[in-house]
Amino acid sequence: MKDNLFIALEGIDGSGKSTQTKLMEQSLIARGLKVYTTFEPTNGPIGSMIRSVLRGEMKMDDRAVAGLFVADRLDHLLNEQDGILKKLEEGYTVITDRYYFSSYAYHGAHMDMDWVIAANAMSASLLRPDVTLFIDVAPEVSMTRLQERNEKIEIYETLDNLRSVRAKYVEAFEKLAGTENIVFVDGNNSREAISRDLLRQVEHML
Ligand code: ADP
Ligand code: TYD
Repeated sequence: MKDNLFIALEGIDGSGKSTQTKLMEQSLIARGLKVYTTFEPTNGPIGSMIRSVLRGEMKMDDRAVAGLFVADRLDHLLNEQDGILKKLEEGYTVITDRYYFSSYAYHGAHMDMDWVIAANAMSASLLRPDVTLFIDVAPEVSMTRLQERNEKIEIYETLDNLRSVRAKYVEAFEKLAGTENIVFVDGNNSREAISRDLLRQVEHML
């Protein structure tokens, strides 16, 4: 049993991570916890550079982008102002929308996944999630949600890409099943049902 947890939400684009981060925050606050929610890529200087690459404003080799995510994650953990480690020390339960499994899944498609895992070893040794919750949604469902969302579809958000990222997530989870606490939750349901399922997975740890 712990007083505060570090929870990572993972899933393909449009799986409902940001929706569920907010719902989990509300539920845990209602239980009397102090909650801090955060996301990757961050809003810090390295995260901002990553976003401009993702928007196509800056061209960069995939391997260099994977390196930027490594640096962004270390800043996310270690930042003296609002780093995750500091927030945990202050007693917050921290929920992050994406953590290192996103790197394994997204960059593992372009390069050797073991390299990506090794490159993130510092983050993993600094802080492993108490639980990584994978919101498992069918790529077709996710695609429909992305099309209905009032935002422009990113060029990389194709059905084929969503399928291959899901497959890479599964490969990474299988590879690290012995060292990481990973739970799959059915993401094809209603927002409320998913939120209940996710909460059930963390409640017994508190
Ligand atoms: P992500 O952060 O994983 O990209 P979002 O939380 O932004 O996903 O959700 C993508 C879109 O799908 C949003 O428009 C959101 O309102 C909608 N959405 C989220 N969860 C569900 C759900 N369970 N059922 C239907 N639509 C959903
Ligand atoms: P995000 O803003 O979470 O997008 P969405 O809300 O659509 O899920 O993430 C932006 C993109 O960054 C997303 O396509 C996944 C990618 N990404 C990586 O390629 N590597 C990483 O390590 C992380 C954290 C994200």
